[in-house]
Amino acid sequence: MEEIKIGMLGLGTVGSGVVRIMNDHQEKISQITGRRLKIIKTAVRHLDAHSAQEVPGMQITDDVHAVLHDPEIQIVVEVMGTIDQAKAYIIDALKHGKHVVTANKDLIAQYGSELVQIAQENKVDLFYEASVAGGIPILRTIVNSFAADQVEDVKGIVNGTTNYILTQMVAKGVSYADALKSAQALGFAESDPTNDVKGIDAAYKMIILTQFAYGTNVKMSDVTVEGIDEIDLADINQAKSMGYTMKLVGESQEIAGKLAVSVEPMLVPKDHPLATIQNENNAVLVKGAAVGTTMFYGPGAGEMPTANSVLSDIIAVTKNIVLGTTGNTFNGYRQKAALATPDM
Ligand code: HSE
Repeated sequence: MEEIKIGMLGLGTVGSGVVRIMNDHQEKISQITGRRLKIIKTAVRHLDAHSAQEVPGMQITDDVHAVLHDPEIQIVVEVMGTIDQAKAYIIDALKHGKHVVTANKDLIAQYGSELVQIAQENKVDLFYEASVAGGIPILRTIVNSFAADQVEDVKGIVNGTTNYILTQMVAKGVSYADALKSAQALGFAESDPTNDVKGIDAAYKMIILTQFAYGTNVKMSDVTVEGIDEIDLADINQAKSMGYTMKLVGESQEIAGKLAVSVEPMLVPKDHPLATIQNENNAVLVKGAAVGTTMFYGPGAGEMPTANSVLSDIIAVTKNIVLGTTGNTFNGYRQKAALATPDM
């Protein structure tokens, strides 16, 4: 069977999960795609930190260009994080004719349109399902299942770390600081959790969801953002006494022809579907004019759920390679007229 050779940038939490899933499910993936997938090289920042990580057939290198410019590599998987370096590497890969799969929501939220354009110019694929809501296949669902519908509202819990923290505070009375420490230890939080707790990580995801739902590119300055870092147990207890729970809710809605995008802590009635979302789980409600309100639920962070979404993109690219239909990007699927963003 023909092989698709893959290069990876980063071998942290998500990268290790990608290696594991690919090894564990190689046979099934081959049956579905008609190709054997093989990660032949992974670039890491510090070789010493990975000296014990031996994966048969995979070379671990600190030379990123050995991955980006290897003529055998068809797909580059970027799971290293950061913005500027990752952006330069992805552009380099796209311009060298490599398909790219990334989980980097900070990068896609800020430079997605530019990267999509470069991918289209070079007739390669660029997919990033793992950038929003971890293990929930929400981007592909909006692209495919809402293609013929008109989205009116996208609302949900899209940050696992803050939902974990709030759940621990509500259910167990754990302090904000202790709950944050456990979220970091469990691998849900970003390396610097500031973006999680200040609502910025959720805002990046709402920017990407807004692009998919409405075909509109909004900037961070268009989004109303408030985090959970000033919420304490007294606020939580007061909410509980009134029959509410506290959730960090992102929403992107069309109001009188204009788009309003926000991320804010909200008092959610205990019987609302979002009130039941516990720990690192995420949920996204998508309201379409034809279908009505739908809800998508699942783990929003963590090694294996996020890695599974990366694999779903790698498989999508592989199918496109086999069918000769590469040159797709998620954004390329959806060319809806842009709505005006509100004046702020
Ligand atoms: N830090 C992110 C979260 C990881 O907690 O949701 C997944 O994007």
